[in-house]
Amino acid sequence: MGRLVLGIVIGLVLVPCIVLGWFKWGNPPVAVTDHPFPFEKQIVAIPRHARIERDMIKTPPIQPTADDFIAGAHIYQEQCSACHGFHGKHSDFAAHMYPRAPQLWDRHHNGKVVGVSDDPPGETYWKVANGIRLTGMPSYEKILSTTQMWQVSVLLANADKPLPPEAVALVSGQTPAPAPAPEAQTPTKPGKKR
Ligand code: HEC
Repeated sequence: MGRLVLGIVIGLVLVPCIVLGWFKWGNPPVAVTDHPFPFEKQIVAIPRHARIERDMIKTPPIQPTADDFIAGAHIYQEQCSACHGFHGKHSDFAAHMYPRAPQLWDRHHNGKVVGVSDDPPGETYWKVANGIRLTGMPSYEKILSTTQMWQVSVLLANADKPLPPEAVALVSGQTPAPAPAPEAQTPTKPGKKR
C-alpha cells in the first residue's frame, strides 16, 4: 500500500516538477536557431494529419477554369508570396522562420512535384482556412471568401501543370502591365518639376 501511495506521489508531483524545472532551467528550444525537441516533427505531424484527414472536403466545389487560376494567382501574390515565395524567387525570411515556410513554387521529389501539387486541393484548403497552429501559417477564414480559398488551393494543386500565362506572370512576381495612364501620352513640359 505504502509503495502504491509513493508511486502516486511520484507520478503526480515529482514528474510535473521535473518537467517544469526543465522548462525553467533546462534551456529547452525557444529560438528559431535552437535544435528541435526530440521527435518534434513526428509528434506535431501525427495529430495534424489525423485532423486534416478527418475534416477535409474531398471534392472541391469548383471545377477550376483559367479565370479561377488567375484569381488564385492574384490572391497568392497578395496574401502568400511574402512567406511562400514566387516562382524562381524565394522569400527573404522564410528560411529564418521556425518551422520554415516552404517555397511553394520549388520543384522537389526529382522535379516531379511543385510545392504542394502532390497534396489534394482539400488538404491545402484546410490549411489555408484553418491555418497551422504555432507555425506562422495564418488562418484565412476571416480574410478570404470560401471561393477565394478554393481558387488559391486549386492553383497550388495544379502548380506542376501548365497554367494560363497571366497566372504564371503573377506567381513569378511580375505584376500584370498596368493599362497606360492617359497622361502618359502628353509629354511633360521641359523643366517642369512634378
Ligand atoms: C506569415 C507567413 C505565411 C503566410 C503569409 C502564409 N503562410 Fe502558408 N505556411 C507558413 C508556414 C511557416 C508554413 C509551414 C508550417 C509547417 O511547417 O507546419 C506554412 C505552410 C503552408 C502550407 C503547407 C505546406 C506543406 O508542405 O504541407 C500550405 C499549403 C500553405 N502554407 C499555403 C499558404 C497559402 C495559400 C497562403 C496565402 C493564402 C499562405 N500559406 C500564407 C507561413 C505562411
